[in-house]
Amino acid sequence: MARSRCNGKILCLCLLPCVMVSHLLVYIMVSIFVAFSYSPPLPQLPLHFIATGASTNSGALASHPVRPFWKLKLEDGALWNRLQHILDREHNPILRGNGTRSKGQSHDTIHLQEMGKTGACKQDSAWASHMPDFNTLPDQMKDFVLSMHCRHYAILVDQPNLCSGQESTTPFLLMAIKSQVGNFENRQAIRETWGRSGWMQGDSGGRRWLVRTVFLLARQDTETGPHPDLSALLKLESSTHKDILLWDFKDTFYNLTLKDVLFWDWLSKHCSHVHFIFKGDDDVFVRTKALLDYFNNVGVQKMHGNKMKARDDFVVGDVIANAWPIRQPDTKYYIPESFYKGTYPAYAGGGGVVYTGALALRLQEVSRWVSLFPIDDVYLGMCLHRLGVSPTHHSGFLTFDLPEDLRQKPCAYHNVLLVHKRTPKEMLTLWKELQVPPQEC
Ligand SMILES: *[C@@H]1O[C@H](CO)[C@@H](O)[C@H](O)[C@H]1NC(C)=O
Ligand SMILES: *[C@@H]1O[C@H](CO)[C@@H](O)[C@H](O)[C@H]1NC(C)=O
Repeated sequence: MARSRCNGKILCLCLLPCVMVSHLLVYIMVSIFVAFSYSPPLPQLPLHFIATGASTNSGALASHPVRPFWKLKLEDGALWNRLQHILDREHNPILRGNGTRSKGQSHDTIHLQEMGKTGACKQDSAWASHMPDFNTLPDQMKDFVLSMHCRHYAILVDQPNLCSGQESTTPFLLMAIKSQVGNFENRQAIRETWGRSGWMQGDSGGRRWLVRTVFLLARQDTETGPHPDLSALLKLESSTHKDILLWDFKDTFYNLTLKDVLFWDWLSKHCSHVHFIFKGDDDVFVRTKALLDYFNNVGVQKMHGNKMKARDDFVVGDVIANAWPIRQPDTKYYIPESFYKGTYPAYAGGGGVVYTGALALRLQEVSRWVSLFPIDDVYLGMCLHRLGVSPTHHSGFLTFDLPEDLRQKPCAYHNVLLVHKRTPKEMLTLWKELQVPPQEC
């Protein structure tokens, strides 16, 4: 009896670790199985939102972000995160393999053309049902959610020859300015000052570079809201200056991202060889000549054969890192938690950002795999993140202006590349004062 009791104890002592280890093994196996078989909940998604896959994985799209390529875990309960999660899985070259069809023939492009033909993309309430608080959201957020699957809008006023026109040379710098139909005065002031089209020398002299300006507009007319009918004036302006791009969507704050996306599309078609792009608002002042000097000093161009080529990862501005979405519903930048969870990627904020034409082409491609986001500069940050490109901060981009007592002193502009914000009148005065490069104070 005594012996068998002893045996029982030994047996227990031996078995216990075995049982524990086997539990652990089962747990690990189940975890691995869950991770591999995991697929995001696919509610009834309208098909047109999800770009249809395998053929669109060109080499250029298979970029390598600095962070993990995709997340197995989904930030549940936020619409944007969920949609992006689906897109990430659709376009993950490891999961999908390598498509062999060339770019431009992808399903997406075909789809784009179809949409162009049939005209308007209709609002769709499919997403709304995934946001429990949809009905309590501010109108602009609701409007955004209802049409965030639409990103192809017809161009109503185009300038296909802007970059190949009379000079028959590709511009060195293209200034793409977001403006609104009614802001005639801002546009004219920009044309007469820092956005003057033509050959321009940097402050330090030397070579002359071709600069072109184009204004990015969307609709603000009698059909899209209580707007006065300015169409005749706009037509006249466009035929005089040939620098207006107008797209067929409602010009609202949350629709500004569309201007970036559609501008990249336009650029890839009509101005793909431009070296640098300044993208900004129509209430900023830019020291264009200082900007030209800056490009030449930072060495963002390399010789390729006997041609200069700009780097395809160069983007600079007033960089904001680790920003959180604003959760106060009554503010301009409000983003509800049911729409987006997490921090924002580093982005170049405010009135203006500079990047190379080569990077713009990459942005055009990658933006197809990034769900639209209502704040345009954050969206640019998201696309850059996807490309594994970090924006560079430059203290000369003063999106929060100079200290009040310095604004009137030309010398305070010594190191400034961009300053926000200036009225058309102030632009003219400042331009005159800064004809001589400002000295340090
Ligand atoms: C993917 O396919 C393209 C041609 O379709 C090829 O040039 C490229 O090398 C492939 N990439 C990989 C990782 O196999
Ligand atoms: C953006 O434009 C589209 C097309 O005009 C419109 O349906 C939608 O409501 C607009 N979105 C916002 C947020 O205003």
